[in-house]
Amino acid sequence: MVKKYVYGRPVETEAAVVSLQETAGTPELGETSLTEGFCFRYTLAEEDMIFGLGEANRGINKRGYVYISDCTDDPDHTENKASLYGAHNFIAVSGKTCFGLFFDYPGRLRFDIGYTDSRVMEISCADANLAVYVIEGTDAYDIVKQFRKLIGRSYIPPKFAFGYGQSRWGYRTPEDFRAVADGYRENHIPLDMIYMDIDYMENYKDFTWNPENFPDFGAFVREMKARNIRLIPIIDAGVKVEQGYSVYEEGVKNGYFCKKEDGSEFTVAVWPGYTHLPDVLNDDARRWFGDKYKILTDEGIEGFWNDMNEPAMFYTPEGIAEVKAAMRTFVENEPEKDAVWAMRDMTRGLANRAEDYAAFYHDRNGEKIRHDRIHNLYGYYMTKAAAEGLERINADKRFLLFSRSSYIGMHRYGGIWTGDNQSWWAHLLLNIRMMPSLNMCGFLYSGADLGGFGADTTRELLLRWLAFGIFTPLMRNHSAEGTRMQEAYRFERLEDFRNLIGVRYRLLPYLYSEYMKAALNDDLYFKPMAFVYPQDPIARETEDQLIIGNEIMVAPVYTQNAKGRVVYFPEEMRMVKFCADGSIAEEVFRQGYHYVETGLGEAALFIRKGRCIPIGAAVECVEQLDKASLAVYGWEGAAYTLYDDDGISKDWDMEKNCTVMKR
Ligand code: GLC
Repeated sequence: MVKKYVYGRPVETEAAVVSLQETAGTPELGETSLTEGFCFRYTLAEEDMIFGLGEANRGINKRGYVYISDCTDDPDHTENKASLYGAHNFIAVSGKTCFGLFFDYPGRLRFDIGYTDSRVMEISCADANLAVYVIEGTDAYDIVKQFRKLIGRSYIPPKFAFGYGQSRWGYRTPEDFRAVADGYRENHIPLDMIYMDIDYMENYKDFTWNPENFPDFGAFVREMKARNIRLIPIIDAGVKVEQGYSVYEEGVKNGYFCKKEDGSEFTVAVWPGYTHLPDVLNDDARRWFGDKYKILTDEGIEGFWNDMNEPAMFYTPEGIAEVKAAMRTFVENEPEKDAVWAMRDMTRGLANRAEDYAAFYHDRNGEKIRHDRIHNLYGYYMTKAAAEGLERINADKRFLLFSRSSYIGMHRYGGIWTGDNQSWWAHLLLNIRMMPSLNMCGFLYSGADLGGFGADTTRELLLRWLAFGIFTPLMRNHSAEGTRMQEAYRFERLEDFRNLIGVRYRLLPYLYSEYMKAALNDDLYFKPMAFVYPQDPIARETEDQLIIGNEIMVAPVYTQNAKGRVVYFPEEMRMVKFCADGSIAEEVFRQGYHYVETGLGEAALFIRKGRCIPIGAAVECVEQLDKASLAVYGWEGAAYTLYDDDGISKDWDMEKNCTVMKR
């Protein structure tokens, strides 16, 4: 049962796909105040747990902290950061009273979940123009499933996108990409994709490639495809300001860029230097920008990642002018301690300034909207532009598409990666805990930069992260320029990497099947233990183990120098361990706590009582998957319904594509 309350005149976000009659008044569950902006206040009961918020910091149960929906490019997201790259305003309250709340509001929204007062949850925003959806249900899982129906089917990528991908900021020339392809293929470590970061472009100009490095781009794309490797280029939000660059010139001529109050184009510096932002909230501009992807699909490209679309700002001319003025005063006076730090803060503060987000406008098909009111929609609509463009290019084909910034609603158009994490154990744990929350908000195709983006990784951290990454739909190793190289073949004893990444392919038929079931049934692929064992007080608190699909539990190792870890078994389960020598070890664990040894280069999963899963032979790319190699592991007498399809077309009929396998 879903009720919709409307306050003022909300911005249309298209987050929900079901249109509901408005309910008058305010939700009875809490107190709503509309005097100073909007505020919803709910008294938390002792046992209440709060789920949701998608891409947010900290644990699965969000209680006890403050989270702010305000899409932010913050590569240094330590535990104290309240905003990350996405804004996912859905929560489910689970206690004596169970209900869900979705705040359809694309500006800055604050969730104080027992932070200021441990017994109070307060959700507030400055502008009382929004829609609030209240979902009543039997438990958190039921509420989440109802919410997912409200927001529509999650994006379904092509099957190759379930393979393993290698990325790094800094690959520039065909030789760089060939070296990666060779490193994987010659060492027989599986690989399906190599990502092209900004250096493939000519001076970071969207929809171009460096003509010196790639005199025949299409030929290079085909060369890689012949080795079963797809090249996946990045597209940034900002379009470089440069006379003679057609995308820039067309955008200016047609008024497709975001404008300042005075009607001139808003300018912001990102990788190319000064850029303009395509007004993706405007239908004509969005169509124009989306059609540009064809420049690359015409060369054989089948997937993209959209970046810097919070939109990220390094600085604006206005910000620079202010800093320069302050510097002049600074230079002309004797330095004082405070003035030194003020200068430092001012230069640092040039990026992503609130003033800059309030200094430009969108033309929403005739309505002028100041950016900060719809800030959290930008990445969503950039990705919608791409998805609509790709749909026009070929409506029957699936393209790989994911974004950094997002808002609920975007989950229908593409996946997300979780942005610039660091090579820290803490970020591996964050990755584990974030996945089910992302799923609750519709983002099924998602994953983190495995091994960590910033800072230097270690062999051990990368192996442990890959061992979890095996299970994330988007499995990509990505790192920043200047950090330690982290392609799998660069480390000693690379058979461990071959084996672990191979496990992904051995499990791929099962993982793909569960992904498709989750997408087609508006269900979760990653479930918190609390959703599957709601009556078990220990399971309810266990946040470092997850249920995947309907059959298995995973308990990743996320600490340094561990030979295994303590695993909580809410019920009897059968372990399948992929050992370092390629063999499979099985063992039954009774209900309770057990120390499970999992060496580096090994991966374990636990099959729930009475269930079974198919496991295939290791192959080197999705193209080589062979159903004939599937064997069923798990409990005697169990059956598994395997979903499979061609992985390319949109012919994903559930009945037609399922077969039953028995143990
Ligand atoms: C951003 C992206 C990162 C990419 C870099 C260079 O930081 O999040 O993935 O490598 O830009 O394009």
